[in-house]
Amino acid sequence: MNYKNVAWRKQMELKLDYNNMMKEYVGEKEGFSTKDISNSKKIVADAFDIVKRNRGKGMMGWTELPYNQKEIVADIIATAKDIKKKFDNFVVLGIGGSALGPIAVFQALCHLRHNELPKSKRKFPKLYVEDNVDPERMVALLDVLDLDKTIFNVVTKSGATSETMAQYLIIMDILKKRYGDKAKDHMIATTSESKGNLIKIAKQENLKTFYIPDGVGGRFSELCPVGLLPAAVVGIDIKELLAGAAYMDKLCKVKDVKKNPALISALLEYLAMKRGKNISVMMPYADSLKYIADWYCQLWGESLGKAVDNDGNEVFVGQTPVKALGVTDQHSQVQLYREGPFDKVITLIGVENYRKTVDISDGYADIPDVSFLCGHTMNELITAERKATEYALTTAHRLNYTITLPEVNAFTIGELLYLFEMETAFCGAMLNIDTFNQPGVEGGKNATYALFGRKGYEKTKAEMDAAPAKNQDYIC
Ligand code: PA5
Repeated sequence: MNYKNVAWRKQMELKLDYNNMMKEYVGEKEGFSTKDISNSKKIVADAFDIVKRNRGKGMMGWTELPYNQKEIVADIIATAKDIKKKFDNFVVLGIGGSALGPIAVFQALCHLRHNELPKSKRKFPKLYVEDNVDPERMVALLDVLDLDKTIFNVVTKSGATSETMAQYLIIMDILKKRYGDKAKDHMIATTSESKGNLIKIAKQENLKTFYIPDGVGGRFSELCPVGLLPAAVVGIDIKELLAGAAYMDKLCKVKDVKKNPALISALLEYLAMKRGKNISVMMPYADSLKYIADWYCQLWGESLGKAVDNDGNEVFVGQTPVKALGVTDQHSQVQLYREGPFDKVITLIGVENYRKTVDISDGYADIPDVSFLCGHTMNELITAERKATEYALTTAHRLNYTITLPEVNAFTIGELLYLFEMETAFCGAMLNIDTFNQPGVEGGKNATYALFGRKGYEKTKAEMDAAPAKNQDYIC
């Protein structure tokens, strides 16, 4: 319970270093000046006020998650304990915001080979997050699961997402055929309490159910039962996760843009977008943070990619988020980042203290081009490579900044998730868009309903049928 200790919390504070966004470092042409920041006073103040005013309201219910879930957290911990006793596998059925957060937090905070560890070392159930409707994947999953030792968690806020409901139908059918009335013991639902089909089904089937609060959209839902239940099941301290989010929330309430990490990063991304930097690369230097980049891509892309602003003007804004992994992508993407178009902002995520240290073994003293590595650690190598990439990008005048985690633990992951959520909210306010809707995603969902002949979607089906037929000349 380190997180209750004030000094420890301070030690665990994330650092955001944006030197390489500034002219002095990245060059006159590409970089920003302190004047660019001070000239943005109004846009910063307005965004700050909008976020402050809307906290806890409408679709900003997620700002309260670090504080208002005492009973829910207790229920989740008790449920997780019970699951641990009875089951070896916990399978999440969900997609988008109902899957990416659980995957990211699992990868960050559990053993990197959790599912492969023997039970004696793993101690907690295996976790699978199924976020596709690829039939081969479904069959492969069923091939490896012992159903007697498996519990499923169907997660969909709307209760209307075709992919998730299809998975639910398949699994529930299998469970009912095998366990009859006891099928419900192998299924937990996480959904909206007030809307949608899953809540009706959950009641009908008498399923244990957790609720997704109304003001919490999919991509902002990791810190509610969507993410907390899978996290608790695999042994993650969810109270510490929430404490980290609360700590970051405090930092994000500071009005001074230079002292507020979410506000300054939102401003710099906003200013970069205004200069046509329409790609945001997220590049953690840790395998544990690999899927935080995936989660970020949904958060940033779905929240900021909008056709119209709040006044109804066509704006077509947003940055295309790109995930990369240090050092792996140094040998693939970094060539482009350093020498390709000047259209990106690159965020590097560093870790000060990795949880393990690995020495690089001695050998080949007669081959200096190999032996220079000896006597060092992998920790030193990965850190040197991050610094080298930062240097290489900066000397090539590429906008970049670095977020450093003192170490990867539940507290710092809570901070990081909340930082990105707040940055997204501030940036959306600067862009004057609705950060929390996703009409583009709904468009695809509706077209799928129409193609499957769902009632109420006849008009969409007719429109799709009326679309011009494919020209065979363009197919080879
Ligand atoms: O952020 C969002 O709202 C979406 O990406 C949803 O998470 C995704 O579409 C899944 O929706 P649901 O939870 O309703 O199944």
